[in-house]
Amino acid sequence: MCGIVGVLGNHEVSPQILDALKRLEYRGYDSAGIATINRGKLDLRRAVGKLINLSDILVHEPLPGRSGIGHTRWATHGGPSVANAHPHRAGRVAVVHNGIIENFRALREELGAEGISFSSETDTETIVQLASLYLERGMTAVEAARATLKRLEGAFAVAFLFEGEEDMIICARRGSPLCIGHGQNEMYLGSDAIALAELTDRITYLEEGDWAILSRSGALIFDADDHQTNRPVTRINVETARVDKSGHRHFMAKEMAEQPRVLQASMSHYAGLSGGDITLPAELDFANTDRLIMVACGTAFYACQVAKYWFEKYAGLPVELDIASEFRYRDPVLGPNNTALFVSQSGETADTLAALRHVSPHVAQVVSVINVPTSSIARESAVALPIHAGPEIGVASTKAFTAQLQVLALLALKAGMQRGRLTPEAFEARLAELRAVPGFVAQALDREEEIRRLTETLSQARDVLFLGRGVMYPLALEGALKLKEISYIHAEAYAAGELKHGPIALVDTDLPVIVFAPHDGLFEKTASNMQEVMARQGTVILISDAQGLAEAGDVPYCLQMPTVPEFIAPIIYAVPAQLIAYHTALHRGTDVDQPRNLAKSVTVE
Ligand code: M6R
Repeated sequence: MCGIVGVLGNHEVSPQILDALKRLEYRGYDSAGIATINRGKLDLRRAVGKLINLSDILVHEPLPGRSGIGHTRWATHGGPSVANAHPHRAGRVAVVHNGIIENFRALREELGAEGISFSSETDTETIVQLASLYLERGMTAVEAARATLKRLEGAFAVAFLFEGEEDMIICARRGSPLCIGHGQNEMYLGSDAIALAELTDRITYLEEGDWAILSRSGALIFDADDHQTNRPVTRINVETARVDKSGHRHFMAKEMAEQPRVLQASMSHYAGLSGGDITLPAELDFANTDRLIMVACGTAFYACQVAKYWFEKYAGLPVELDIASEFRYRDPVLGPNNTALFVSQSGETADTLAALRHVSPHVAQVVSVINVPTSSIARESAVALPIHAGPEIGVASTKAFTAQLQVLALLALKAGMQRGRLTPEAFEARLAELRAVPGFVAQALDREEEIRRLTETLSQARDVLFLGRGVMYPLALEGALKLKEISYIHAEAYAAGELKHGPIALVDTDLPVIVFAPHDGLFEKTASNMQEVMARQGTVILISDAQGLAEAGDVPYCLQMPTVPEFIAPIIYAVPAQLIAYHTALHRGTDVDQPRNLAKSVTVE
């Protein structure tokens, strides 16, 4: 969370920094700020709320200067306020920071004993106060930054700007991503390459523990042991890094609409446009795996939950699932023949990354399914499988979910072949079904207007219940998460059979109950649970296919999905889950792409 930008330029940098921050706003939008050095003097502007507020301030109070740092914040220590907004300044130093300084209390006390008073509630201010103190004690800027970094505990990325040092930004990466951009006698710094896409296509990714001194002529990079080191300059595809809404009202709308194309691209990467094989890195071995451990957060976790059914059914592989933030803090029993699989859109989710580091030494192979190939999770996995979804900017994950499902389905089939659980005929049949996914997803998207009408009433609800069985249970969970996230309506999901063990007490005429129930082997069971709800005056919205709707009888609200093979149904039924949340949020007038309290990339534990 929080986005960091730095520019050592040849023109006014505030507009460049503001523009780069716009591309990082998905990381947090509680406040924003910029600091520059102009004629040797440090100055800054900060504003609460979205970047537009900072832009407005800059119109009236421009911030000249050719060297600067900027920040967009997702609050951790201290609420959203100007005082807590970054950059923080003390004396001749300004700092922007992403992450958490875990020993900030001890540092605050120590600095307090030196007579230093704090003007914010943030952990970040300890960084800038320490650096300022070291400067006052006679250290150079580089020495002060280095000495400060050595005192910090936690996971963070940080950038320092020093008054009087117009050709220097010092930055460090410890736990949170940071990359350096190379320009024509200009240098840039960003939390990710997307931030710098309009400035350069030449990027150096800092490694864990690195710190660097940037000047307009280049970067001196040091590793965690202070040895000067070389990190490669890679060329990024600025076209794919560029982000716009392409005529859609929201990023979420664009990203939902992109799904057929994304799924097609991802499929052709792993399985070509036709033929009967799946191409995966040769070292990926499920034949000798005795247990698959899948770990993720949020929507990515629900993708794992669906995949558990697939790995068990098609590969006969025992699967253990956990939420990353829980997994690390119990004592999971790990074995030398286990495969650990981590799923993450951003590849930077702190809990998932920490879980990966926790298991790595103890298992046979660490595999990840990620959207950002340069991310920390990708780089720290033995095998990283990109989902090829392109940048996902809307906080609510949509295309990444369906693309994760597709790659996980391919993996499950490959595992089924490697383990001799699938005959070649069954393998080819399932693969052919997967190839049909983009077309079915397009058909599901065509139901948008019907869904929009359904949500007119739904948007009035205070609570909503989602039900599903088997692979539709994680879909119900995903539907409830999407709805909570962007419409702020309280929503819960239950395995349909679990309803009678408690939650049915909630059912009354005011409670809409959304049921995901394609006509599969579990349909009769789910339909019975639905009848139990209707018998208690619950308002059911049934999402099923033609046969399911015909057999369901008289249901208050129905939504017809295409008839699809059971294997791929979860990917297709993700679409109504997304569209229901989207249109409910539109009716309620909430901020779809940047819902309150959330950030796209959760890089703090
Ligand atoms: O980047 P990741 O996939 O690791 O993110 C995990 C969750 O934070 C994410 O899926 C979150 O739940 C989404 N906002 C859900 O729409």
